[in-house]
Amino acid sequence: MDLGVRDKVALITGASKGIGFACARLLGGEGCAVVITARNAENLEAAANKLRAEGEAEVLVVAGDMGRTDDVQRAVDATMDRFGRIDILITCAGSSPGGLLEDLTEEQFFGSLNLKFMGYVRTCRAVIPHMKAAGEGSIVLVVGNDGLKPSYWEMTAGIANAADINFASSLAEQYAPHGIRTNTVNPGPVNTDRWDGLEKAFARDKGVDQATAHDLAVASIPIGRICEPDEVANLVAFIASPRASFVNGAHIPIDGAQRKGIMDT
Ligand SMILES: NC(=O)c1ccc[n+]([C@@H]2O[C@H](COP(=O)([O-])OP(=O)(O)OC[C@H]3O[C@@H](n4cnc5c(N)ncnc54)[C@H](OP(=O)(O)O)[C@@H]3O)[C@@H](O)[C@H]2O)c1
Repeated sequence: MDLGVRDKVALITGASKGIGFACARLLGGEGCAVVITARNAENLEAAANKLRAEGEAEVLVVAGDMGRTDDVQRAVDATMDRFGRIDILITCAGSSPGGLLEDLTEEQFFGSLNLKFMGYVRTCRAVIPHMKAAGEGSIVLVVGNDGLKPSYWEMTAGIANAADINFASSLAEQYAPHGIRTNTVNPGPVNTDRWDGLEKAFARDKGVDQATAHDLAVASIPIGRICEPDEVANLVAFIASPRASFVNGAHIPIDGAQRKGIMDT
């Protein structure tokens, strides 16, 4: 299926690896120019070089911390300077620690909210005026299934994700008259470095080794395996594209119908 994104411009935050990189690769392969952000400039440049080697799509890198308003604005300004528009925004820059309430610090709660919720808010606030001026745009927030069905071991992610979902619904209502669609994609466990880190922490808290923690996670997913980043990217790219022109305010799980009592199994 031709997604209809050729010559469009996508800003993808948190895209030097994992789900964001998979989204950049898919959209780049469809002829969309991609702007990718992450904190580590070296990894980001390496990711951009991989994308450039794979296709002819234009790639711009902007290193920065999406937990900081000035860095977010710089990424948006750099995109506008280079391409003059932003057709698609995909937010993936998020990271929240797993853990039990008694072990989590206040800083960990605020850190999760600052990046996973306020980072997404900041990015949308900086991008929407440009989409509004253009009279069109598509926003996909990569959030997480903890926002739809809570899991007590993943509560710092869950509260930020629930806030993102609520926020996205508001954007969907407010900006649809301006031609801007806003949706969320909500993965369960996905085979990335982030999941590897969570699995290690889960193993620690459960008092098992990582292989056992992995098996317990898989046992919570009726499909019987965790998701691959490309599978999330397929969904994100479709929702972001004009092919999904009537999808607005949707919160789509991609979790193989995961049961959330992962700590109880
Ligand atoms: N993997 C899962 O199981 C899973 C499940 C549900 C939801 N999600 C969500 O999906 C999104 C992507 O996760 P992932 O698994 O693809 O993660 P990942 O493989 O760890 O990649 C995260 C990307 O975001 C960047 N990043 C992290 N903190 C950042 C910051 N403060 N500012 C800018 N960039 C930042 C990282 O690069 P730098 O470190 O260099 O900044 C990297 O490029 C996250 O929001 C995550 O919560 C993931």
